[in-house]
Amino acid sequence: MRLWQNPASPFARKVRMVIRETGLTARVEEIATAVSPVSPNADLAKYNPLVKIPALQTDGGDVLYDSSVICEYLDTQHAVTRIVPDGAARWNALRLQSLCDGILDASVLCRYETAVRPEQYRWNDWVQGQFGKIRNGLDALAAEAPAWGAQFNIGQIGAACVLGYLDFRFADENWRGSRPQLAQWYESVKTRASMVATAPV
Ligand code: BEZ
Repeated sequence: MRLWQNPASPFARKVRMVIRETGLTARVEEIATAVSPVSPNADLAKYNPLVKIPALQTDGGDVLYDSSVICEYLDTQHAVTRIVPDGAARWNALRLQSLCDGILDASVLCRYETAVRPEQYRWNDWVQGQFGKIRNGLDALAAEAPAWGAQFNIGQIGAACVLGYLDFRFADENWRGSRPQLAQWYESVKTRASMVATAPV
């Protein structure tokens, strides 16, 4: 399999963590891919019409996107504990993944708005609106983190990617300040081999 990814992308990190948590590292070639909202990557455009990473080419030649679809596919390719659980736990894990994807969508949009968009076009009220979503989402994660225990399914992997991305791009946000239980949970997972190997650069 081939994975187009960028080492700064939190969505690519989610997939890269799943690869490592499920022992699939030797089966996936990771292709570092430059991405830009204004000059689409011509090579990636041949495989994903949205020109977004992550995108995964299966051994059969199909190309899958986005990160949640890729993670579900990877879960069919290994024989260890499922990353997307079956039964009743499935819906809670998928909901948690969606919550984390939404926080990441808002975070990446803020990153582009504050670091890429020319200064004269920036819109502070819009950025604050996105930060409202990020903070509400973090409060929701903080409320449920004490119940996670040792679980590390697609929901917790998403949460780890959210917190890692905020530390990477928005360290001034101090998300830990009012959310000590979420901070405690993050401390307990950030030294996992899958986290260390995929730390953003
Ligand atoms: C970033 O540099 O923050 C970034 C890179 C690729 C995708 C998303 C975010």
